[in-house]
Formats: sequence, C-alpha cells, structure tokens
Amino acid sequence: MKLFVAPLQGYTDAPFRHFHNLVFGGADGYFSPFLRVEKGEPARRTMRDILSPLPPPPGFVPQVIFKDAGEFAMLAETLKSAGFRRIDLNMGCPFPPQVRKGRGAGFLLRPAELGKVAEYVAADSETEYSVKMRLGVDDPGDWKPLAGILRGMPLAHVTIHPRTAREQYRGELHLDGFEELAGALGKPVVFNGEVLSPDDIARAGARWPWLHGVMAGRGLLARPSLFAEWRGGEEWNPARRLEGVVRLHALLLDHYRPLLCGDAQLLARMKSFWEYSELPHRQVKRIAKARSMADYEEAVRGVSV
Ligand SMILES: Cc1cc2nc3c(=O)[nH]c(=O)nc-3n(C[C@H](O)[C@H](O)[C@H](O)COP(=O)(O)O)c2cc1C
Repeated sequence: MKLFVAPLQGYTDAPFRHFHNLVFGGADGYFSPFLRVEKGEPARRTMRDILSPLPPPPGFVPQVIFKDAGEFAMLAETLKSAGFRRIDLNMGCPFPPQVRKGRGAGFLLRPAELGKVAEYVAADSETEYSVKMRLGVDDPGDWKPLAGILRGMPLAHVTIHPRTAREQYRGELHLDGFEELAGALGKPVVFNGEVLSPDDIARAGARWPWLHGVMAGRGLLARPSLFAEWRGGEEWNPARRLEGVVRLHALLLDHYRPLLCGDAQLLARMKSFWEYSELPHRQVKRIAKARSMADYEEAVRGVSV
C-alpha cells in the first residue's frame, strides 16, 4: 500500500517536505499545497515553494486548484515548463471563498468544465495526473454526475476525503460514500481522513484490500514518524517519537532562522508546527504562548512524554 503525505497549506511546504523525508522517510509521495491563479498568473509565492532549492523528496507532486479549464491549462503549462511530469488536481478544498468561485470542492458542481479538463488531460500523454476530491459540497452524493468523466480520465489515482465541503475537516467520515465512489471510479483509490496511527493504516488495508494507498495530513503533523513506523512493522514508543519531532523542528528552525526577518515571523512559523502535536495540551500551550524565540526554545527544551 502506498503512503502519501497530504498537502496542508501553511504546513507542508518545501522545508517540511524536505526535512520530514530526511528525518523520517517512509512516504511514497508528497503533494504540494495548491497552486492557484492569482492576479492572472500562477501565484508567485507558491511557485517559489514548488521550485524551492531544497531538493524535493522522491515522489513530490505539485497540486493545482482551478475554477475552469482555462485556469487549469495555465497552471498545468507552467508546471510542465518547469519540468514537472506529475500534477495533482484539487477538487476538495472546502474554503468557502474558493468553493463559491467554483474552485476545489466547488469544481465538483461543474461537470461541463471537468469534461474540458478531461480533454486536456487525455491529449497530454507525457504527464501523469491524479485527483484529490471530496464527496460533495453540501451533499455527499454530489460526485455522482462526475463519476463517468473521472472514470474515463487516465488518472494515476484518485484520493478521496470522504466528507462534504460543508463538513470541512470534522465529523464522521462517510465510509459508505467512499466505497460507492471508489467502486464507481474503477481507478486506483487512495483513502484520506483521520489516519492517525499505524493501526489506522492496517484497518484501512484490511477493510479495503483493493486500496492503492492512504494519505495522512494532520495525523502526520502530530506523528511525523507514522509512515516510518508502519514500514518498520513496529510502533515507536512516545519518547522515540518525540525525539524525532524535536529533531525535525530543530532542522526547520535552523533553515528558517536566516530566511525570516525578525523573531515575530520566525516564532509564528515555528509555533505552527506544534499546533497538531500529540504532546500533552499543557506543553503545547506553553509553546503557543511563547512571546520570543528565547521563550520558544525554552518551552521546546521542556517538552517530554
Ligand atoms: C490547514 C489545512 C490546509 C490544507 N491545505 C490543503 C491543500 O492545499 N490542498 C489539499 O488538497 N488539501 C488541503 N488540506 C486537506 C488535507 O490535505 C486533508 O485532505 C485533510 O486534512 C484530511 O486529512 P487528515 O485527516 O489526514 O488531516 C488542508 C487541510 C488543512 C487542515
């Protein structure tokens, strides 16, 4: 079963991808947070991240978000000109301003535009495409009019986060809806949602023996060793897991220190990596409350399991 690191805007950018792979390894692929059209061109900041001088980990795939076939083509052309041969299509972002414009999960309601994107994809045999999607916007059956089009597309895989956009990232996963969509696609399918432990990976594999892979986002921020543990066939104890987290965050700090101007930016950046931590709440709160880098470093020195 393939193991993929989910894109998380604001977290899994190039330094995280690079250093996560260096410290833990274990993933088959990393997806960039979405690239979108901003002021008529591919967002410069995201392009800088995608083209970061830090060597990308093996299996790195940039992701695009788009409201129509024109935006999609512009982003795909840009990435192909930069040398990429794999592109992931975001059809799942639940952020209301994007959804309202027809991007992310909003694209699920645009079968005619998906048809045009499918024509572009079919005409480009040099690039490998994949899709990351939800079940719907308000209704977990919104995907139904798209299934035939997706089925006809030459996709490497489809990642499904079985929630609606309205449900954002919380609440019960629609596992029946996941199975129904997976069956209708007839493609390699990746399960994404609340994969937090090696047991969760095992459960997904046992429940769906046909699964192509799992993708983890927040679970991997909390437990960056998750895939390494699964690969190694045994769980790491909390102390060993924390040792890895501290090492990863120290590398990120060394990387960002000369790049971000001033303590405030550096502090905000570094604090964010602890937001999903599996540490006791009291310790995370202490890091979150740090007002200076000295406070931050002292709080990090104090973490323990
Ligand atoms: C802060 C945040 C940012 C995200 N950014 C993206 C993104 O850029 N592209 C995308 O496809 N999904 C994005 N997602 C969704 C995740 O990739 C993933 O589908 C979701 O978190 C569910 O998986 P998890 O339960 O393993 O976290 C984001 C989620 C969060 C919480």
